[in-house]
Amino acid sequence: TATEDATAAAATTTHILVFPYPAQGHMPALLDLTHQLALRGLKITILITPKNLPALTTLLSTHSTSIDTLVLPFPPHPKLPPGVENIKDIGNSGNAPVTASLSKLEGEVIQWFQAHPSPPQAILSDFFLGCTQQWATHLNIPRIAFFSVAALLTSILTHLWQHLDKLHSSDIIEFPGLPLSPSFPQHHLPSIFRNFRDGDPDWEIVKEGMLANSKSWGYVYNSFYALEGEYLDNIQKELGHHRVYNVGPLSLIGLSKSSDTKYEVLNWLDTCPDGSVLYVCFGSQKLLTEPQIRALALGLERSKTRFIWVVKSVSSQQVPDGFDERVSDRGMVLRGWAPQVEILHHKAVGGFVSHCGWNSLLESVTAGVMLLAWPMEADQFINAKLLVEYTGLAVKLCQGEHTVPDSDALARIIYESLGQDIPQKARAKAMSNKALEAVKAGGSSAAALDELVKELTQLGV
Ligand code: UDX
Repeated sequence: TATEDATAAAATTTHILVFPYPAQGHMPALLDLTHQLALRGLKITILITPKNLPALTTLLSTHSTSIDTLVLPFPPHPKLPPGVENIKDIGNSGNAPVTASLSKLEGEVIQWFQAHPSPPQAILSDFFLGCTQQWATHLNIPRIAFFSVAALLTSILTHLWQHLDKLHSSDIIEFPGLPLSPSFPQHHLPSIFRNFRDGDPDWEIVKEGMLANSKSWGYVYNSFYALEGEYLDNIQKELGHHRVYNVGPLSLIGLSKSSDTKYEVLNWLDTCPDGSVLYVCFGSQKLLTEPQIRALALGLERSKTRFIWVVKSVSSQQVPDGFDERVSDRGMVLRGWAPQVEILHHKAVGGFVSHCGWNSLLESVTAGVMLLAWPMEADQFINAKLLVEYTGLAVKLCQGEHTVPDSDALARIIYESLGQDIPQKARAKAMSNKALEAVKAGGSSAAALDELVKELTQLGV
């Protein structure tokens, strides 16, 4: 129709600068979204540093001509070893320094913008990159913050941010103003908030980010209404003037890129009965301590359950001698990087022991696999509350970064969860159907994505 032609023509003139945060827990989802925006006719430039360029090439499922890159050198930082450009090389302690470094790209970005024949009409950046709000203000364009985390987490952090004095008043921190009135022991809240100290450069970066996000033109969440409706509504209500778009699970929208590689582990899964295998993986960064590895190995061995255990290929992550042989009839230790999404979607997989990183959580929910929660740090205790208490999608396995679980207790929980028809399994299946509905035409996430594209398109008119 004429209207559609006009929208399409306008869309081709809308140009967005996308700035992903260089961490496995952040980048893929924003690139999935970028892909969707490009497919809908928006012109994109992705700002990236040289060492993150290969990841970008792998993750972007399209080589559309409407996606360009702006490659700028990573600015050095005294707390970062030379050559480190991604959180995978330094761990979560690198978050504030990496954010501080990337904020120094401002001058070069502004120069590039001013020299560009058709410069961007908006910046879409990770919520960690609060610096981009200031860039956007200088350039007189809007900034959209992309949240690769839960709306529950943002609600909690926003409340904490407004009532920092709470952190000194009690061991249990309550959030009575939020839906379901969550409460947490202090040590389950992100450590940067717990240990905040004005003047500490890392805390100052977090403060700058919180402030910047509160001024952003819009929020995009990799979440969906059936999972976090109350909290998405709460964010919309509290930040009335902001636009909130819940477009997740983005991994589901991007599933078309699933690879053709037939991994050995998938062949092995083909030989296992439906729902019989436990998948064990603690995200992209977390290393277990030696006593934790021993306890988990013993727990898996005693559980008499089939399993895949992903162990990072660094020397500190050795499983006990002879473990592989002892469990070879029913278990597989995968060293290095696992094809997690493909594994979770295999019908032989019946449970997932996870640290409750947001991406792992969404991937499990999407695949309809119940979780066995072992939150350790950062946002993971908050995510675990959503899973175990609010949605009933997970069984509580263990908790704590340094906790060494009792092997017999692990074995029992694993055996009973995988072997029995517990309600978490049915709920996980039901939630996966809701995730599918959300991204289908007319679903809540599909509608939010359409709305986002429409509003971005209007910026170019
Ligand atoms: C970090 C934080 O620790 C977490 O709390 C936050 O919610 C997101 O950022 P990370 O350890 O990267 O999390 O975990 P997660 O969010 O679960 O993301 C890991 C990603 O890596 C998932 O998409 C997962 O599929 C992928 N992965 C991990 C693999 O594909 N293979 C692996 O072997 C390990």
